[in-house]
Amino acid sequence: MRKILIDTDTASDDAVALIMALRSPLVEVVAITLVAGNVAVDQGVNNALYTAELCGSEVPVYRGAEKPLFRELEPAHWFHGMDGMGDHGYAPSRRKVQATHAVEAIVAAAMANPGLEVITLGPLTNLALALEREPRIVANIGRCVVMGGAACTEGNVTPAAEFNIWVDPEAARKVFLSGLPIQMVGWELSRHASVLNAADIAGILALKTPLAEFAIECNSSGAVAYEKQTGEHGISLPDPIAMAVLLHPELVLEASAHFVEIETQSALTRGMTVVDRLNVSDDARNERVWSEARSHAKKVEICWKLDVAGWKKALLTALA
Ligand code: RIB
Ligand code: CA
Repeated sequence: MRKILIDTDTASDDAVALIMALRSPLVEVVAITLVAGNVAVDQGVNNALYTAELCGSEVPVYRGAEKPLFRELEPAHWFHGMDGMGDHGYAPSRRKVQATHAVEAIVAAAMANPGLEVITLGPLTNLALALEREPRIVANIGRCVVMGGAACTEGNVTPAAEFNIWVDPEAARKVFLSGLPIQMVGWELSRHASVLNAADIAGILALKTPLAEFAIECNSSGAVAYEKQTGEHGISLPDPIAMAVLLHPELVLEASAHFVEIETQSALTRGMTVVDRLNVSDDARNERVWSEARSHAKKVEICWKLDVAGWKKALLTALA
């Protein structure tokens, strides 16, 4: 049984990703660790506990970083609503968060489970702190799927950057240069055909299960915000797509390995994932800027193309 750890800033798309993992026969979720991002970390904890309870899961949930490493938290209430779940007034869960801090939980899970698969669905603050606390976890983490970044394309929170990386670019840079085996699922994979259209939504609601109804309802605010942002109709689900890639690696139809650097200085391009797609970082002219990435990082597997039908089938199966 593959063991996975999910680090998340649980808002509505994260919640659907949690359902996919908790209901999958392929993996054992050893921990869910919360990080501030879409919403304050305590709201994220409530949303994760609520979702786990809905799945009948006793998975331990841990509270983590309340803000980015060096910056103030800038949540995404504008996208996911004030509670992050479309403001439908979901009752607080009866379940309780663990006393152990999320960063400790990440270190303990990695040291106890060589080959652990980690997936990050929010800012990388917790993972960066865990790497600082115990660098040896790099050797024990077999795979690190990051929902984040925008590979050679526009971002969703600025023209240059995707939200998870933009919120805490310093943390993201520590993670991307850590030597972890990263697979990057950028925001671009959750656009256009990947978006749940009216027929997809009708098909999910036709399942008539509590999880199916919850998955659509809690993303109501996201659907409105996404249409305003992109002009596209439907529900865009970046975190569930990253989870589908973790659970079913065969859904990635095109991928290639490249060094990635993260912008942390510029206000204009803060949080940009600069992907060396043409592999020119070893040219003499690039030596100064790229030497640290080349000496510390592993090349990142960039996912360029997703099996859209396969993604939607995996989601439907999880919600049935
Ligand atoms: O940019 C999309 C990402 O930011 C998703 O993980 C969403 O939940 C938010 O955290
Ligand atoms: Ca998220």
